[in-house]
Amino acid sequence: MSECQAQARAAALRTDIERHNHLYHVRAEPEISDPQYDALYKELQELEHAFPGLVTPESPTQRVGGAPQKEFRRVRHIAPMLSLEKKEDLHELELFETDVRRKIPDFQPEYIVEPKIDGVSISVHYVDGLLALGVTRGDGEAGDDITANLRTIPDIPLRLACDGPPPKLLELRGEAYMIEADRIAMNGALRARGEKTFANTRNATAGSLKQLDPKLTAQRHLHAVFYALGAVDGIRFASHEDELETLKQFRVPVPALWFKVSCITDAEARARELKEREGELPYETDGSVIKVNDNATCERLGLKTNVPAYAVAYKRPEWFSETTTKLNNIVVQVGRTGVLSPVAEVETVFLEGTNISRITLHNAEEIRRKDIRIGDTVVIKRAGRVIPAVVRVVDDKRTGTERLFTMPDHCPSCNGPLVQRKLADGEAMEVALRCENEACPAQQARAIEYFAARGGLNVEGLGEIVADKLVERNLAHSPFDLFILTLEQLATLNLGSESAPRIFGEKNAARILAALEQARSAPLHKWIQALGLPSVGESTAIALATTHPSLASIAHSEKLQRVIELARIKEDIKQANPRARIHKGKPAAELAALTARHTELSARQDERKRTVASDGLGSEVGPAVAAEILAYFETKRGKALLDRVKTLGLQSPAAPAPAAATIPSPFAGKTVVVTGTLQHYSREAAHDTLRQHGAKVTDSVSKKTDFLIAGTDAGSKLAKAQQLGVKILGEAEFQKLLASSNASS
Ligand code: IVH
Repeated sequence: MSECQAQARAAALRTDIERHNHLYHVRAEPEISDPQYDALYKELQELEHAFPGLVTPESPTQRVGGAPQKEFRRVRHIAPMLSLEKKEDLHELELFETDVRRKIPDFQPEYIVEPKIDGVSISVHYVDGLLALGVTRGDGEAGDDITANLRTIPDIPLRLACDGPPPKLLELRGEAYMIEADRIAMNGALRARGEKTFANTRNATAGSLKQLDPKLTAQRHLHAVFYALGAVDGIRFASHEDELETLKQFRVPVPALWFKVSCITDAEARARELKEREGELPYETDGSVIKVNDNATCERLGLKTNVPAYAVAYKRPEWFSETTTKLNNIVVQVGRTGVLSPVAEVETVFLEGTNISRITLHNAEEIRRKDIRIGDTVVIKRAGRVIPAVVRVVDDKRTGTERLFTMPDHCPSCNGPLVQRKLADGEAMEVALRCENEACPAQQARAIEYFAARGGLNVEGLGEIVADKLVERNLAHSPFDLFILTLEQLATLNLGSESAPRIFGEKNAARILAALEQARSAPLHKWIQALGLPSVGESTAIALATTHPSLASIAHSEKLQRVIELARIKEDIKQANPRARIHKGKPAAELAALTARHTELSARQDERKRTVASDGLGSEVGPAVAAEILAYFETKRGKALLDRVKTLGLQSPAAPAPAAATIPSPFAGKTVVVTGTLQHYSREAAHDTLRQHGAKVTDSVSKKTDFLIAGTDAGSKLAKAQQLGVKILGEAEFQKLLASSNASS
């Protein structure tokens, strides 16, 4: 091979290796096997060995190199590394916005909400697209040169993946971090050698970055993620969103979850959502960061002494209350839809007002990532009314007797095979394991329990245990079977075991049968909800029930088909738009044909829009949900459901949900939102009552909302209502108004 050929081959190999490296380490979606990757890498190494003149510093073979250093060189940051002002509740966030408005009266709120990553801050420089320098935060003005160590982190590209010429300078700000399971493995190795261990991933990361020998850093499995820019030259960004998107294009890892919002209350709501979903992120979070999106506005806002005036850290104090407990066992539950979820059984602890003894661990991936083992001492956290979660293992408490947990390879209920479904887009698999056996007793019991629960047909007395026993004793396999149970069958049901029987009894049985009798005539939307159609929540159920006379008519609904068709036309219009980028440079005749088609489709769209509007489904049922509902009734399960409804003579609970006021009431025709906890009503009961009074109940506060009924612990909806001047009623006022109308009727 000539040097010239070798050079071309080396360049091609580097591009390939960089891409596969990114797919493996950052995206976790490898396209080739490890041996295939190793073969590419080895070929490049051999080429570079044969032609040493070809070696460049950014070659993937040069990540770990150089002799150990004596000490770190001190370097100045081009732009200082700032810290952020902290906000703790919505009110403080509103003051932040007020401050912005004071400086910029015509400010149009637009924010990006992203996780605040709890790692170790780093700064890296790319000069002409190549990684040139890596620095610790230090005192914010100057830090240590840790370039050799940062080069060993596979997530950090040695060369930006730019299509065109790279920017002259890009100073990036981010965080290095370690995954919990890697810290624990590392501690095991350190302990075996009698060395000091690290109590948390942050310390472990900092310690790993401060190694004088980059070969040691390379063994620590560090990761990195970037979220801000320092100095830049030769590139412009219009907004923070633009920065995140561009960095992603360059294959620089950025936060996987972030949101764009256009008011501060939505920012607050998204920050809460991030908190609830932090388990989806590979790093630990420390609240979130809310940033003004528009860069020109950020520049005008500038600094507030030494913190930016355009971004704040949001950390609600209750997000950080933690306690430790012992994890005694991990059991696997099979849900109504067949998804398996591991649940930790822990020694009962009291945290923020509740006793906690069971904690969902979501899936095997989460257990692996946090390296949770049976017998571990674990840190658990519970934010407000959010479900409790295991944060991390206290690995100093490990004794060596802990046991690894593995997901079963068959359904723990029916012993059937398990499957992983493909995600809607592309090849990747869902993490969830599912049992798809329709006769699976656990799924049947959970479907019955769901049907009878508060959000469903509210059959009091029919809970988890009764549902389990009905299935186990072959008395019911679906909610419909409940309607043919006899008093005797139910009364003699043994909720205990053969040796220690616990008979359900006639009184309880009679109560359930009476509730079921009532359920027969429950409004259609309650039925839809209780049957748990995929993607159908309360508002969708109501929209379906008020526009269709029966379940059967939903199954063959032309209204739903029209919603899907409208979406298709919209998509076709996009494709036919002669100004679309894909048609650039096409011959005039082709463009003229497109214009004609575009006009025709637009007319068809207008006509369809009118029909869909008069169909009355409203905005509750989008095309994806419509398609899912229709597809469900084509499945075996869906068809069986319709058959049962027919044979049991249940088609007439079809009385549409009350839409018009049945009682003269101050709520008649009003749009009402309920938020927070009410003392005398469950959320469902409040909604039902309001609907009986002719109100339209919605989930979110807008200018169209007439009343907000606010219980205790009301959060962002209350704030938004105040901001919009919506009339707010406390529970007492709500009851008074209800009573006045009841009295007059
Ligand atoms: S932005 C000019 N975004 O938190 C604004 N910082 O308390 C610079 N941090 O020094 C910071 N995640 O080390 C920003 N998504 C994120 C962050 C983040 C973590 C760290 C960063 C910063 C400190 C401020």
